[in-house]
Amino acid sequence: MRTITLIPGDGIGPEVAFAAQRLIDASGVKLDWEIQNAGAHMTDQFGTPLPKSVTASILKNGVALKGPIATPIGEGFRSVNVTLRKELDLYVNLRPVKTYQGIPSRYTGIDIVIVRENTEDLYAGIEHMIGEDAAESIKVFTRKGCERICRYAFEYAGKEGRKKVTAVHKANIMKCTDGMFLNIAREISKEYTDIEFEEMIIDAMCMRLVQSPESYDILVLPNLYGDIVSDLCAGLVGGLGFAPGANIGSNSAVFEPVHGSAPDIAGKNIANPTAMMLSGVHMLKYIGEIEAANNIEKAISYVLNEGIAKTRDLGGTFGTREFTDCVISKL
Ligand code: NAI
Repeated sequence: MRTITLIPGDGIGPEVAFAAQRLIDASGVKLDWEIQNAGAHMTDQFGTPLPKSVTASILKNGVALKGPIATPIGEGFRSVNVTLRKELDLYVNLRPVKTYQGIPSRYTGIDIVIVRENTEDLYAGIEHMIGEDAAESIKVFTRKGCERICRYAFEYAGKEGRKKVTAVHKANIMKCTDGMFLNIAREISKEYTDIEFEEMIIDAMCMRLVQSPESYDILVLPNLYGDIVSDLCAGLVGGLGFAPGANIGSNSAVFEPVHGSAPDIAGKNIANPTAMMLSGVHMLKYIGEIEAANNIEKAISYVLNEGIAKTRDLGGTFGTREFTDCVISKL
């Protein structure tokens, strides 16, 4: 039986992670879950929010399903999420964004996959104060980092029958970093003649995504732009409650929703578990459990389309547990 590392996380993490686990188990797929805890609540016992056993478990099993974990702002420990991505070299952050019938959105027909670089850029965390009144943060791009993310975008496009890859940059201003990213994207695109290649400056990209998001297919972006554009795209299809994600490396993959730990609604059984469930769907596809993945996606789609079981973010009254029961009943 395949073993999956399950990291419930904190805030709404445990509520949505256990909802997704319950749904996956109900689909009939046989998985053995290895629960690993990470987050601020682990610091007293282990001296770190990310105990070594967590990364060891992911490395052993190769795949994890993870709830969100809070990061203190401006002080305190470094983000557990960023550390995991760096330690496991999960260089791809894959974020599919799709309109589902039944989820209120101003748009129809959006089906975008964001391929965000996950280990470099300003997230390298190389920062320092210069005296008391200035601060510096270093933006790091490497050829290896740019090559492997651009290659992944084109390979993914080919595998999934996608038509177009758009490379997003600000190479007009940052000629070394973004310039290198763009040149590498251009070079790699020449090897994939059946996939259309397009380049777009990040600011124009944001405007175009709001005006005509249905014209985009795969977006490949450096880390920071990818982070921002992911939330923008989540907003286009109904909000953070519906945006799944995955962090993928050569040896392991961690599937998690785009949203954070939502401390404002934690522990109240009102979080929308859909993004976490859809992250589970992508995890099942990744491990080859295609039938279970499709069945779960159809059940979620059915419930959303029916429009009866709605969580509070959709104006409904269904709790996390009740919504999950409803999806399970439609499997
Ligand atoms: P957030 O995504 O947690 O919340 C933003 C807003 O969306 C809040 O009003 C929240 O209630 C709502 N929301 C989020 N997920 C929801 C869901 N499933 N159902 C219903 N409503 C939902 O973003 P925020 O507040 O910026 O971050 C909170 C914490 O999460 C921070 O400590 C941040 O560092 C962490 N975070 C962790 C991530 C991860 O583990 N990968 C990703 C993003 C943030």
